[in-house]
Formats: sequence, C-alpha cells, structure tokens
Amino acid sequence: MSNEIKSPISSSENSSLISPIYRYSDLEIQAKKYLSHHVFTYINSGSGNEETLTSNEQAFKKWKILPEFLNDVSTRDLSVSLLGDTFKMPFLLAPVGHLGAAHPDGELAVARAAKKRQVPYVVSTVSSYSLEEIAGELGDSPKWFQLYWSTDEELTVSFVQRAEKAGYSALVITIDSPVLGFREADLTNQFFPVREGFGSGNYFKDPIFRSRLEESPEQNRAAAIEELLKITFQPKLSWDDLAFIKKHTNLPIILKGVLHPNDAKKAMEYGVEGLIVSNHGGRQLDGVISSLDALPGVVKEVNGQIPVLLDSGIRRGPDVIKAIALGADAVLLGRPYVYGLGINGEEGVAEVLDHFLTDIDISLATAGKRTISDLDPSLLVRE
Ligand SMILES: Cc1cc2nc3c(=O)[nH]c(=O)nc-3n(C[C@H](O)[C@H](O)[C@H](O)COP(=O)(O)O)c2cc1C
Repeated sequence: MSNEIKSPISSSENSSLISPIYRYSDLEIQAKKYLSHHVFTYINSGSGNEETLTSNEQAFKKWKILPEFLNDVSTRDLSVSLLGDTFKMPFLLAPVGHLGAAHPDGELAVARAAKKRQVPYVVSTVSSYSLEEIAGELGDSPKWFQLYWSTDEELTVSFVQRAEKAGYSALVITIDSPVLGFREADLTNQFFPVREGFGSGNYFKDPIFRSRLEESPEQNRAAAIEELLKITFQPKLSWDDLAFIKKHTNLPIILKGVLHPNDAKKAMEYGVEGLIVSNHGGRQLDGVISSLDALPGVVKEVNGQIPVLLDSGIRRGPDVIKAIALGADAVLLGRPYVYGLGINGEEGVAEVLDHFLTDIDISLATAGKRTISDLDPSLLVRE
C-alpha cells in the first residue's frame, strides 16, 4: 500500500507500513501486534515509574505556537548545517540498540531507509549488526557512531578507530549510562536483549574483544555474551577521559545525555564539538527533567558556540518546530522509526520518515515560516 501524502523533499519511491499509519498512537498499536510482548515492552517502556517517559511528551504541550502569517511560504527549506555538513532535513535517527529484536534485518533495514531518504543515522554501539556492515548499507549517506565507553579501554579505542575507518563522521558519546537504568518492565519480563544475542554485532567482530575470550563467540556464545555484559558500561568515566579519546580519533565528539547547564559548560571547556540534550527516552533515571524543559538552560549556557541537538519525546512535526524554536539546532527521532521497523522492516521505517518529513514541512508552512533558521523563541508562548 502506498503513501497518500508524499513529502515534497522525499524520494518518489514507494514505502509502506501494512496500511498507511499517520498517528503515533496507531504506530504503537500496530507494533504491539507485530512484535512479541517482551520486545514491544522493551522498546516502549521507560525506567522506574515512567514519570520521565511521560513528561517528555507532556513538556511539548506546555508550549503553544503563535504564528504570524502572509510571509510567502510557497518555497521552504528544511535543511540544517551541523559540524560543517548540510543535511536536507532537521532530524537524525537516534541510536537505538538491539534492533535485531524488532526485525531480522535490524539496523541494516534502518540504514537502507535512512539512505533512501538521506536522513543521517546515528548507529548504536550495541547494534545487532557490526558498524562496518551497517556502513556498507549506508554508503555515502551521513552517519555518526554512538559510543558506549567500555570498561575495556583498548576495546573502546578499537570501536572508535573502526568507526572512523568505516566512514562515520562524528562520535556520539552517551554520558547518561554509567550503569543501565532500573527498567521495571524488562526486569518483570526478565527480558534482556543482549542475553538474547541482539546487541553483539560490534563486539563479536572485534579483534580486541575476541582476544579476551578463551573460546570464540562461534564456539561458546553464552560465555561471549557474559563477557559483553560485564564490559559494556564504564561507571568510572569522567571528564578527563575525553582527552584520552581525543588522542585516538580525529572525529568530532558530541555528548549525548546532557541535561544540566554545568555539564554543557564543562563539555565546551573540554573541547566537545556538540551536545545532545536527552534523557535517553526516559530509560535511565526516572524522575529526571524532560529534555524539552532542560533545553533552554543548555542553550543559554552554550550561547551558539557549538550545536545543541535534542531527543526524547519527538513524535510529530510541531514538536520539531518547538524544539528548534527553543534553540535546538536539530532533533533526533527515536521510538517512532523503531515501530516502523517492527511493523514492516525497511519499508516501515521509510514510511515513518516520509510522514514525519511531510509533517515537519507542513508545520513550518503553517507556522508562517520558510526556513528552519526562521524559528526562534518569539514563535512560542508558554501556557
Ligand atoms: C529500545 C531503545 C534502545 C535504545 N538504545 C540506545 C543505545 O544503544 N544508545 C543510546 O545512546 N541511546 C539509546 N536509546 C535512546 C535513544 O537514542 C533516544 O535517546 C530515545 O529513544 C529518545 O526518546 P524517544 O524515543 O521517546 O523520542 C534507546 C532507546 C530505545 C527506545
């Protein structure tokens, strides 16, 4: 089934979910049908009592758009410039791990859709396929690599150097995960995607990781998974470690998970090239501030010196308009594309992207604006 609405800037190739889905709530309903209970819950849920998960979406409702019209919005430009690259649209695909649980093609399917629509893809450390395999699908399409800093320093360096060699153009270091959040739903289900074998793509192919094992992952998969679980997160990580990684890579470094203006300030002192305001989609510490509420403080501190991106709670075009009006340079889309993947693989992701793009474009026009750089706080009122 084909789309009824096409984004003016998307390709003309067909994409499809099982039937065209426009509402985020319908994406969730369909994904729930296609995915096993445990996998759907893993994607959908947050940590603890899910207060942050809920407030991420609610925060957008507290801001109202106050448009001014008659501005000739017949031609529009959704492009943004980040770290010297120009992207056709103001969003990237957020790093989401273990996508083999949602669809057998996992990150490869996401990469194909991202390439077709020229949406930059931030590939997770804990992907089901290796970063090289995913880069192979992406070709010259824009790609960043997200790093979970391992307790094994040599492995961390190996990941970074592999990413650089495979053509990733930025390193996104996630700082909000010194340990995994207390995810009540997954604990209840006793579902841990790494244990199911869905997050090992980069580790099992890595020479350093393999050298740590007595038997190869092909000989003893269970032991390899246990090793992976032991070394995934580095709770000791601190600011001075950034200088260490900078010695091993020329890639620009972006910190993901910044909420406090003090961290934004420190990041700039340590030469970080960009920030992502994020609370990991409400999956780490429950009760932390919503990303949108944290954004103005970070933007004020940064004062235009480095790009500030935002994720957590982006569902629709008007959300993008609000986040950018409040000072974000771009946003990242998370759960919606993962549901598209779960429903219909590459085509499902492509359709989610098409609808999202169309929505952003229509939202810009109906806000009376022509370009992304026209968006500023004067467009918004706080309820
Ligand atoms: C199932 C799932 C897995 C995720 N895996 C990662 C990951 O591997 N690395 C990372 O930095 N963030 C990860 N995230 C967080 C996303 O990058 C992003 O911050 C979050 O999805 C934004 O929230 P939203 O999806 O509600 O908009 C994950 C999120 C989900 C839903």
